[in-house]
Amino acid sequence: ESDEDLVARPPVVTVMGHVDHGKTKLLDAIRSTDVVAGEAGGITQHIGAYQVHAEHEGVDRAITFIDTPGHEAFTAMRARGAQVTDIAILVVAADDGVMPQTIEALNHAQAAGVPIVVAVNKVDKEGANPAKIRQQLTEYNLVAEEYGGDTMFVDVSALRRKGINELLEAVLLTADAALDLRANADKDARGVAIEAHLDKGRGSVATVLVQSGTLHVGDAIVAGTAHGRVRAMLDEHGETLSEAGPARPVQVLGLSSVPSAGDSFLVAPDERTARQIAEKREAAERAALLAKRRKRISLEDFT
Ligand code: GTP
Ligand code: NA
Ligand code: MG
Repeated sequence: ESDEDLVARPPVVTVMGHVDHGKTKLLDAIRSTDVVAGEAGGITQHIGAYQVHAEHEGVDRAITFIDTPGHEAFTAMRARGAQVTDIAILVVAADDGVMPQTIEALNHAQAAGVPIVVAVNKVDKEGANPAKIRQQLTEYNLVAEEYGGDTMFVDVSALRRKGINELLEAVLLTADAALDLRANADKDARGVAIEAHLDKGRGSVATVLVQSGTLHVGDAIVAGTAHGRVRAMLDEHGETLSEAGPARPVQVLGLSSVPSAGDSFLVAPDERTARQIAEKREAAERAALLAKRRKRISLEDFT
């Protein structure tokens, strides 16, 4: 793939952190400060991922957020070999400090080689000590820029919606400094399923993240062992889309069944091929499961 085929794509961000440190509140705050969402005036849907826009150095930039509980999504997807996250926002409550799941989260991100931006949250609270958070995290190789390191720390209040633009700015600065976020938009789409469910009226509804190429309505696709033709695509505002490029999360209708979070998807030349690929994957999964069971039974014979 030559360089000129590649175009800049938005960073894909996951929010992680200790229980009750404000991940959900922060995602809500980020989503509601989005100018585009405000203008559209539509009802925001929960589709497991969304895109917001921020102005950075005078340029409008998109950022994709994975909205499922960061931790679980991250580990579930990594277990399936999918790496969807470019940047992790580590939320640490300024009144509580570094806690076990803070450390677990940063370990996950560091093991995956994902740069971290620290959101020091709840700075509105009495007893908040943002300096202490910076000091505590130096122990884990997260050294704030103001202390000579290269990790961006941003003080925020998800509750009062303070510091959100600065946080988005820090994400873009980190992306530009540490990552080469380019993808080829001009080919068949590939990506990962983020979440999926069965809807009474609409059938299988899957949120997928396009990682490369462009997905079109009418494309034949395979996602895990589900297959079909893209009947419709919706964004997080419930608007229908005819196509989705790199780093765009979309809800896809038209799959035969419900894929799992972390399942990869790809576009096939036609529906028949899509079904054949899905059947092959299913057979491989069944064989692996059987082999595992046999192994367990034979071990039980001796223990
Ligand atoms: P889990 O999903 O359970 O791990 O929690 P979480 O990290 O998503 O935290 P959540 O957003 O649910 O916030 C936990 C509590 O902290 C809620 O009562 C929030 O209202 C509160 N909270 C979150 N952010 C702030 C903040 O900036 N300031 C204050 N004062 N409270 C906050
Ligand atoms: Na909570
Ligand atoms: Mg939460």
